[in-house]
Amino acid sequence: MKIELREIHKRFGAVHANAGINLSVGTGTILGILGENGAGKSTLMKILSGYFHPDSGGILLDGAAVRLRTPADALRHGVGMLHQDPLDFPPMRVLDNFLLGREHQFWQRRSAARADFDALCSEFEFRLDPDGFMFDLTVGERQQLEIARLLWLGARVLILDEPTTGISANQKVKLFATLRKLAAQNKTVIFVSHKLEDVEGLCGRVAVLRRGALVGEAQPPYTTAGLVQMMFGQALAVGVRPAAPLGAPQLELRGAEFAGEHIVLRNVDLTVAAGEVVGLAGLEGSGQQQLLKGVAGLVALGKGSLKIGGRDLSQASYKEFLAAGTAFMAADRLEEGMIAGLTIEEHMVLARRGKQPAIVDWAVARTAAQAGIAEFNIKGAPASVVEGLSGGNQQRALLALLPPALKLLAMEHPTRGLDVESAIYIWSKLLMRRAEGTAILFATADLEELLRYSDRVLVFFAGEIMAVLRAADATVEQLGALIGGKQK
Ligand SMILES: Nc1ncnc2c1ncn2[C@@H]1O[C@H](COP(=O)(O)OP(=O)(O)OP(=O)(O)O)[C@@H](O)[C@H]1O
Ligand SMILES: [Mg+2]
Repeated sequence: MKIELREIHKRFGAVHANAGINLSVGTGTILGILGENGAGKSTLMKILSGYFHPDSGGILLDGAAVRLRTPADALRHGVGMLHQDPLDFPPMRVLDNFLLGREHQFWQRRSAARADFDALCSEFEFRLDPDGFMFDLTVGERQQLEIARLLWLGARVLILDEPTTGISANQKVKLFATLRKLAAQNKTVIFVSHKLEDVEGLCGRVAVLRRGALVGEAQPPYTTAGLVQMMFGQALAVGVRPAAPLGAPQLELRGAEFAGEHIVLRNVDLTVAAGEVVGLAGLEGSGQQQLLKGVAGLVALGKGSLKIGGRDLSQASYKEFLAAGTAFMAADRLEEGMIAGLTIEEHMVLARRGKQPAIVDWAVARTAAQAGIAEFNIKGAPASVVEGLSGGNQQRALLALLPPALKLLAMEHPTRGLDVESAIYIWSKLLMRRAEGTAILFATADLEELLRYSDRVLVFFAGEIMAVLRAADATVEQLGALIGGKQK
């Protein structure tokens, strides 16, 4: 289906998120949409899929002007979208989720639906159990299910908003194969990302947004430098990691065991020094989260011992961990990190709650929020609600909320969903903390990031730390093989 967007405008208060965008996408194309955090990518895609209404401008599908009032309405016109932040699911079975959005004769259609589900899964080589539960699916599998569901509901245009954040390398290969197949079947795919290598490898055409406007388009062969220049209006230099001297042990684990919902991490012996950065590599759910939450006091120590800054906290409460100078930053920003509906300044109040339990000084909170916004270059105001911030700006706000002078900082995917510039920026801030003597543990799926910023890398596999590497001596290929469970 051919799509034409004409002079699309959308404002949120003072923010001109889409400022007169004109864009056409031909049938059978995979179009990449690139742009820095806050450029207006998600907004434009939500307009095209009926979640938002444009303030002005029009949408033409196969040459006919349409008004897409709701997402269901957009689907009836053949436009379906997968979302940037995976939704939270009630305890629901896979097949029931697949059936969402079908209006008529829900129960009678169940057996027919199951056959359709099986056919779609085998066509795209998705291994999904219709009787399994949603919460057992990985992010990649939920994505496959959602693609199958949208196709079943008649999508001829598939919009994916940062689909490769949070999925494994294997699942990415599979996803790309699926998208290529869809394009070959004459479907139109729009792929939003700020990962240049993904876009370069997949898309037949690229459109670049900056500050709400379409600033350029490109076709293969792409040059990374050219795309970066379009995205940011300038070339970027990746920061070099300054050598920081290691200090006293900040974290000491001996024979530690942390149990999670699905996996138990056993027998961890690990010492992390002040000023050391330790990267955690591995497939999602291999035990990294247990370690990160465990050292921050959010998962109880089952066996063994745990010391922070030389103090034994093996049996300590979360409050005691906080008081000892630990912090945890979750990957799921709106699920665990922030509270939807609250503003940046309200988060400041919550983050400082320990110090002033009874009286809230809003003037102080506003000043702190303003300082955080300035320091972290957040596109938002103290009174902006956090879910209205773009993904990258939410992440910056989370960092702004961290207390100063930490002994230990544990982070899941600190740069997930961030554009190249923001990621470099966030790391410049983290490296400043490291220079001040904070020990940093972080998990990421980005192998380059692991090797660039870590002193040591721990490779997790099925609840065990399989290998410990010095980042300076390791290669991406070596890490990739270890993550897949292959020994050196
Ligand atoms: N619901 C909303 N309420 C208020 N402001 C919003 C809302 N949605 C988006 N914005 C603002 O519009 C601008 C564009 O946001 P958008 O989410 O489209 O950016 P993006 O390009 O998808 O960024 P990212 O790469 O970080 O996901 C941002 O400044 C954002 O704060
Ligand atoms: Mg977005």
